Amino acid sequence: MNIYMAEERVSIYRGLKNVYVAESKICLIDHERGKIYYYGYDLDELAQKSSYEEVLYLLLHGRLPTRREFQEFLDRIRGSMRLDPEVLEVMKRVPKDIDMMEALRTVVSYMGNLRSRGPEYTREDVVDYTIDLVAKMPSIIGGLYRMWRGEEPLEPREDLSLAANLLYLITGREYDERDVRGLDMSLILYAEHGMNASTFAAVVVASTGSDYYSSIVAGIGALRGPLHGYANTGALEQFLEIGDPSNVERWFKENIESRKRRLIGFGHRLYRIHDPRAKHYRRWLEENRERFDEETRRVYETAMKLYEVAMNSFLTEKGIYPNCDYWSALLYYVLKLPKEVYTPIFAMSRIAGWSSHIAEYREDNILIRPKAYYIGERDKKYVPLDER
Ligand SMILES: CC(C)(COP(=O)(O)OP(=O)(O)OC[C@H]1O[C@@H](n2cnc3c(N)ncnc32)[C@H](O)[C@@H]1OP(=O)(O)O)[C@@H](O)C(=O)NCCC(=O)NCCS
Repeated sequence: MNIYMAEERVSIYRGLKNVYVAESKICLIDHERGKIYYYGYDLDELAQKSSYEEVLYLLLHGRLPTRREFQEFLDRIRGSMRLDPEVLEVMKRVPKDIDMMEALRTVVSYMGNLRSRGPEYTREDVVDYTIDLVAKMPSIIGGLYRMWRGEEPLEPREDLSLAANLLYLITGREYDERDVRGLDMSLILYAEHGMNASTFAAVVVASTGSDYYSSIVAGIGALRGPLHGYANTGALEQFLEIGDPSNVERWFKENIESRKRRLIGFGHRLYRIHDPRAKHYRRWLEENRERFDEETRRVYETAMKLYEVAMNSFLTEKGIYPNCDYWSALLYYVLKLPKEVYTPIFAMSRIAGWSSHIAEYREDNILIRPKAYYIGERDKKYVPLDER
């Protein structure tokens, strides 16, 4: 929007659409060709050949590790997986009827009280903080979920990857290698996505010179919103609300066409085409379809029918296609993960991207401080309280 005033022309970029706030070497999103690169590496290749741990290294150091460096990195992750007793105490105390993202915000904030070295920190400190935090996330997410159901939290296992630990610590089960691979792929795909809302929130806090954990807490707060990370939880709720493929057409007409509800898991600020991450989820779902039980098959078919109806609706004319949250919700459901953990898993993965941007931004820091164009009243007379 452009506003003309006598002395100046003001441009207002609502929602900061198309505004660049920094130079970055971390992530290239080619939204026209549908390609994403992390530090120059094609995400399509990383999703198929790499692991979340390796991508975490890449995002923290700007390059892939040698075998020895990677081994040391994995050792550090394994050595950091256990929770401090004080953190477990805080987890026990958070109310059980709140959303897990809000509980996560509190727990991570408390971890900052134990770990933070304050506002002065280096890139090496960011690496230390991130390893410690990401390594503990499976125990935090699994622990909260189990405690809320009156079960004891489980001990993390050093013989398992972060993805396998997540599955184990939430459900208490050891999963098939294909399932672990599916979740690992999802962690890779969620790890980084440019200057999205939660990354920007984290960077805004970092730009003031504040401490690392305050930035991460800001990122978690932003990701909790339904227009951002919470969309994966919302997408699953939507599939369950519809209930059966035979209800899809009626539901779509009533809710999306008539009541103008937003279709959750559809639309993206950057893409007017398919989200480039979607194909990896779809391939996994297709390859593993044979293994779905009856209940899973019903939800899967409901989601596929909804996809088909939406793709033949007014939405595609507007450039609104499914985003990765639509598909990750389906993958997590197939893995029999409870919906409480969907957005927390996204948060765990994205700590990689937040940390990477925090470290990069601080290397050439400038306080982020935009303006709001004032359109309110002027020169109003103050009337004392007892005369009003
Ligand atoms: C992600 C999202 C916030 C991007 O929004 P945006 O870039 O600000 O786009 P806008 O909100 O300006 O939407 C543009 C138009 O498309 C419509 N639209 C966008 N997403 C829509 C959706 N999921 N369902 C129905 N209509 C949608 C808007 O109503 C608007 O219509 P209008 O021009 O007639 O007013 C939006 O697509 C959305 O709310 N999606 C659902 C939540 C979601 O899945 N979020 C995860 C994103 S990765």
